[in-house]
Amino acid sequence: MEKVVVSIGGSILIPDDKDAIFIRKLADLLADVSEKVHMVIVCGGGKIARYYTGTGRELGGSVYDLDMMGIGATRLNAELLRIALGGSAYGAVPLTVDEAAEAFLENRIVVMGGTEPGHTTDAVAAMVAGKTGCERIINATSVDAVYSDDPKKDPNAKRFTKLTIGELDDIVYDEHDAGRSSVFDPLGVKLAMRDRIDILIVSGRDLDEMRNALLGKKIKGTTVISR
Ligand code: UTP
Repeated sequence: MEKVVVSIGGSILIPDDKDAIFIRKLADLLADVSEKVHMVIVCGGGKIARYYTGTGRELGGSVYDLDMMGIGATRLNAELLRIALGGSAYGAVPLTVDEAAEAFLENRIVVMGGTEPGHTTDAVAAMVAGKTGCERIINATSVDAVYSDDPKKDPNAKRFTKLTIGELDDIVYDEHDAGRSSVFDPLGVKLAMRDRIDILIVSGRDLDEMRNALLGKKIKGTTVISR
């Protein structure tokens, strides 16, 4: 069976409007596809992480403190998806990459959040993909593809359907310098490059697109080739 890691942004998993309805639809899709693809789903922190890290920062929390709260939020979000998946999911949220790799040996969907301070859940997805020998990472995000510039600010931004991992690496480092949040964590890109894992950037709200990405079919988003 093909092996895939999905990095799903917190704001995708928790749209903040009829959340249970969206999570249920996503879980049904994942359970359906899990007959053909073996998956680890790494959940981001979204609004809940931002609330805690923002409030903690105002109170003088250290970067370590804030990261730990961010991780807590990612794990809470992961619990919601795990609950929605019921028996299709491994019975607990792994806390480390090693725990995830062990859970992955059971033939169920593994759902997790962050691991340790210092990076984001995209990097966790790349670490888990490397450890478990996954072919590709699907980044289920709020943009529908990688662009040369912020498409909200620059209507002429170029939209990419195919990139090499080296090209994505250049783009995320430019974004990082500009203070924009990267389309994929720069550390995650480096790890995927090292381990030759492809990255698909897709709109996580578009469940048809998600299905195609999971099944290795043609997508509308960006395919980043590592090999
Ligand atoms: P996210 O992965 O959601 O971060 O983790 P993000 O990419 O900044 O969020 P979006 O995608 O823009 O919404 C939330 C926070 O939790 C901490 C980091 O502080 C991160 O910003 N975190 C997460 C860790 O320190 N380690 C982890 O393994 C995961």
